[in-house]
Amino acid sequence: MRKIFVTGGAGYIGSHIVKALGEKGYDVLTYDNLSSGNEWAVLYGKLFIGDLADKDAVRKAIQDFKPDAVMHFAASIVVPESVKKPLKYYRNNTVNTLNLLDIMEEEGLSKFIFSSTAAVYGIPESIPVNEDMLMNPINPYGTSKMMAECILEDLSSAYDDFRYVSLRYFNVAGADYQGRIGQAYRESTHLITRALKTAKGEFEKLQIFGTDYTTPDGTCIRDYIHVDDLADAHLSAVEYLIQGGKSDIFNCGYGHGYSVREVVETARKVTGIDFQTEETGRREGDPVVLIADSSKIKRVLKWQPRYDDLEYIIKTAWEWEKKR
Ligand code: UFG
Repeated sequence: MRKIFVTGGAGYIGSHIVKALGEKGYDVLTYDNLSSGNEWAVLYGKLFIGDLADKDAVRKAIQDFKPDAVMHFAASIVVPESVKKPLKYYRNNTVNTLNLLDIMEEEGLSKFIFSSTAAVYGIPESIPVNEDMLMNPINPYGTSKMMAECILEDLSSAYDDFRYVSLRYFNVAGADYQGRIGQAYRESTHLITRALKTAKGEFEKLQIFGTDYTTPDGTCIRDYIHVDDLADAHLSAVEYLIQGGKSDIFNCGYGHGYSVREVVETARKVTGIDFQTEETGRREGDPVVLIADSSKIKRVLKWQPRYDDLEYIIKTAWEWEKKR
């Protein structure tokens, strides 16, 4: 049985990947400090509670488990917070990745899946965004992930046997179809989560940040990808590395997008609740349109999305949200 060491496996995205790995029969060890994750979210394998800054604890967990590959999700991900507390982001996202790679080198581990983000592109020069476009992040969150990607690239050039896949996520949303896990981070600022919490009555209104963009309805467009499709992309990536695939970078998105207003309308339809919105000014740092060119991951990893349907994405997120 293949063994996968998963950092951040108790968080929103990590827990869906742990589920997918477990369902496929992988043996999983989640390493998580539970700062934003939850013990109940780890549906398969064992959980080791520890911090990535604690190199001795990471080393011990890896030495005992002896994984075939490492998947690294643990990170800080709130863009506005990264602007206010940049050191936290460089420490948690860049330095901790470096620590983990140090230990992998010491222990002779050579397969690494990195959780990256479309934020590395910043404001892309053209749409759809492909992996060859220049990285030009516009906030410390994106820079901290870009720096980790640079380290990975250099490492794979230096050592023939070290191979990695970096997956650049677009807008991840939705929840487990059985409603067992989902976005549980209370402070989440993501559009779909905020819309559903507003439908539930947790907020009086949903703010729409900017209605004067150069899009058909004036609001920003994003490529929303269901978290279970993202999990499948990780399974394909780890199999690819295990079978000898070379280091590479892939966008994770569907290749088309929805505006903020379209998301709001779909959320109203799915929930049956006509929640209120308030049109406010633009949010700083928002690119107008962010859509992935996803042809590379489909071609190289043979990734086939199964849930490319905004209504389904919001329905699964709503089922989850109602239970909370
Ligand atoms: N939005 C609103 N109101 C809200 C929340 C969001 O109008 O209450 C708008 C935003 O302005 C944006 C769109 O909805 O136009 C999507 O915003 P999200 O906050 O859901 O997502 P982002 O596109 O800003 O960012 C997400 C992740 C980042 C990641 C990025 C990469 O949060 O971590 O996608 O595409 F880097």
